[in-house]
Amino acid sequence: MKTGLLTFTLIACSVLGARAIFFGEDTGNVGTQKAQQQVPLVSQSFAVKVINELNDRINGSVVASYVYLSMAFWFDRADMALPGFHKYFLTASHKARDDAEALMKYINKRGGYIKLKNIKSPQAVWRDGLKAMEYALGMEKDLNKNLLKTHGAANGDPHVTCFLEDRFLDQKVDLIKELGEYVTRLKRFTKDYHLGEYILDKDLHD
Ligand SMILES: *[C@@H]1O[C@H](CO)[C@@H](O)[C@H](O)[C@H]1NC(C)=O
Repeated sequence: MKTGLLTFTLIACSVLGARAIFFGEDTGNVGTQKAQQQVPLVSQSFAVKVINELNDRINGSVVASYVYLSMAFWFDRADMALPGFHKYFLTASHKARDDAEALMKYINKRGGYIKLKNIKSPQAVWRDGLKAMEYALGMEKDLNKNLLKTHGAANGDPHVTCFLEDRFLDQKVDLIKELGEYVTRLKRFTKDYHLGEYILDKDLHD
């Protein structure tokens, strides 16, 4: 039943997306100067507002990748020595970078323009695993909120909304649940925090 519904949604997504692309339906394109930066060869009904939103999401993913990179090498220090946390955050950094690349590929596919922003340096000290997991959880919640905002702004451009649904929304919900569970596990060891952190580190390493 659930699979059937999902399949239906995906098919509906492809059909609507294709319709908007091939019939060049008006999805609220604005004829500003910025719009002229779009690639005329492939650009079809790609609203400036939506392109700007997607560029903001690239920024969010690149910032997240940078933060995870900082965390990964904090736990790699000899005085932290938590290889599981190192591995987990390094993978998270690569995934966030892949997210940014997927957004960039999508913008080019639709003939938009990419505008990269300045990236602030992440904090240098992460204290312990709990502190990093709590920060990651808050950051992913923000990223998800912003993705939903972009999804809302792209209302009327089904190709964008379907791309966001397929590539991001499910994964983000799963990731937020996962990070929430790690925070819970670490908080459970009130008397011997380091034992809990050690056990989670083992799990994250496997
Ligand atoms: C990029 O994203 C970060 C984190 O969400 C945010 O603090 C910053 O303001 C953004 N930069 C720009 C230029 O939008």
